[in-house]
Amino acid sequence: MSIRKIFFLVVAFTVLSGSIASFASGQDMKDQNRHRAAIKTDSRQAVYFPAKMQKHILADMRDHLRALSEILTAMSVGEYTNAAHIARARLGLNSPSAAGCTSSGASVHACTAPSADMVRMMEQFMPKGMRKMGRAMHKSASAFAAVAAQTEKSGDAKKAYAALARVTRHCVACHAVYKMR
Ligand code: HEC
Repeated sequence: MSIRKIFFLVVAFTVLSGSIASFASGQDMKDQNRHRAAIKTDSRQAVYFPAKMQKHILADMRDHLRALSEILTAMSVGEYTNAAHIARARLGLNSPSAAGCTSSGASVHACTAPSADMVRMMEQFMPKGMRKMGRAMHKSASAFAAVAAQTEKSGDAKKAYAALARVTRHCVACHAVYKMR
């Protein structure tokens, strides 16, 4: 290979890798700017909840995320029935976590659900719009469970992922509107 060709290759490689690196850092900058802008223009509605209730809801929230993670793990190894089970038990309309959004205290299951006292507090302090969004999320989780339960038979994984994406969109929607702190 001639010296000129080697020189050309070295220059081409340097330019190419430089532009890939600057593209990557450009993306990072964009993400950072978007993040900063979101903090500056935080227009979420702050809701007041008593400390006990806030603690309860945040613990529920962390379990929502854990449940999502377990669902995705199950789906990644083709265990759709298990994914359906997790969604139904931890996120669905009949899960204990839905009690504050869906029911009056009377229909709450005593052993696993939040105390009737907690449910009453939720009814008292949670704005209507927030309860509605909560109910919509739990409903979409039940719908996902129904789709996922069919997936091992139908083999249509895309449908299950689409139904799961509808659940996470409800998480995002509520987080965009409300904050506690
Ligand atoms: C009805 C409204 C609503 C829905 C639906 C909702 N969240 Fe939240 N979530 C909140 C609010 C409000 C906070 C507190 C945010 C803040 O104060 O900045 C929160 C906080 C959290 C936190 C932080 C917990 C902590 O300990 O600080 C996690 C994690 C979370 N949510 C996950 C989820 C996931 C996953 C979903 C969907 C499966 C979900 N949430 C659905 C309202 C909601």
